Amino acid sequence: MLFPARPSWLGLLASASLVAAQTYTSCNPTEARCPADTGLEAESYTVDFTEGSDYMSWSSLGTGPIAFTPSGAEFTISRRGQSPTLYTNWYFFFGRVEVHLRAAWGTGIVSSVVLESDDLDEIDWEWIGGAVDQVQTNYFGKGNMTTWDRGGKSDMSDNQHTTHNYTIDWTAEAITWYVDGAAVRTLAYENALGGRNYPQTPMRVKLGIWAGGDPGNAPGTIVWAGGETDYSKAPFTMYVERVKVTNNNPASSYAYMDFSGTWGSIMVNAERAVMNVSLMTYNAWF
Ligand SMILES: *[C@@H]1O[C@H](CO)[C@@H](O)[C@H](O)[C@H]1NC(C)=O
Ligand SMILES: *[C@@H]1O[C@H](CO)[C@@H](O)[C@H](O)[C@H]1NC(C)=O
Ligand SMILES: *[C@@H]1O[C@H](CO)[C@@H](O)[C@H](O)[C@H]1NC(C)=O
Repeated sequence: MLFPARPSWLGLLASASLVAAQTYTSCNPTEARCPADTGLEAESYTVDFTEGSDYMSWSSLGTGPIAFTPSGAEFTISRRGQSPTLYTNWYFFFGRVEVHLRAAWGTGIVSSVVLESDDLDEIDWEWIGGAVDQVQTNYFGKGNMTTWDRGGKSDMSDNQHTTHNYTIDWTAEAITWYVDGAAVRTLAYENALGGRNYPQTPMRVKLGIWAGGDPGNAPGTIVWAGGETDYSKAPFTMYVERVKVTNNNPASSYAYMDFSGTWGSIMVNAERAVMNVSLMTYNAWF
């Protein structure tokens, strides 16, 4: 069901994606026992979207087209209600994500690269259509959105007409965001509420574009996004040329061994490890 060309499939995708397009998890491992995540088994993965898609590693959600052209993966909003998104079919556990992209223009249009885990840890890049010389960085731990003081803004040169290298380096100790090789922000584990709000569980990579300035959004969101989106000015397109993911813990799977959501509770290669202990012991961990 990837990138459906047939209109009948689009309807199906649309209903599922309205829920899924924003922060969403199908099973939250801090609240329930969830199936293990599929891991990226390689130490590193690279896709060059200027040469085509990679259906094995990516799925789509959100309505709206994603085209693969010599300019890269083109995520386009051409009318209200669209928010095309790609996400990896696998998770990685600490490492590096390097994305080469051009952000979309348009008032209220948000281009984004989001790393997100099942318990809603999140590390973000965001580009606001009205802010061609700025990139925003953000993070969340376990879906804690009670305050909005985590966002950062970094000045940069034109992000809409020039492709830049946006890299996130993520370890158990710190997260560093780099633009074209220059560190623009570092977050240490202890500075995220003593680690409680620190992103530390296996993540997927999500690439997408959405209208933060949609008139139906909360007023605060519209203001943050730079104002109301004027859909008569569409299309608005984000171009992603290349993505490289380095996985510090390559594995076929990751399992949460308790409800803490801490990195120490993540079992790497869960299904293989489980064969080494009795099922009774495994169940006792929960
Ligand atoms: C959520 O984060 C805020 C600070 O950003 C903190 O005061 C609060 O205790 C956190 N909530 C939980 C449940 O950790
Ligand atoms: C992109 O930036 C990262 C972080 O500085 C760097 O390690 C990487 O080599 C850069 N990629 C390219 C293609 O220059
Ligand atoms: C399971 O046990 C085998 C044999 O003792 C060992 O080689 C392997 O590393 C163990 N696997 C895991 C994931 O612990």
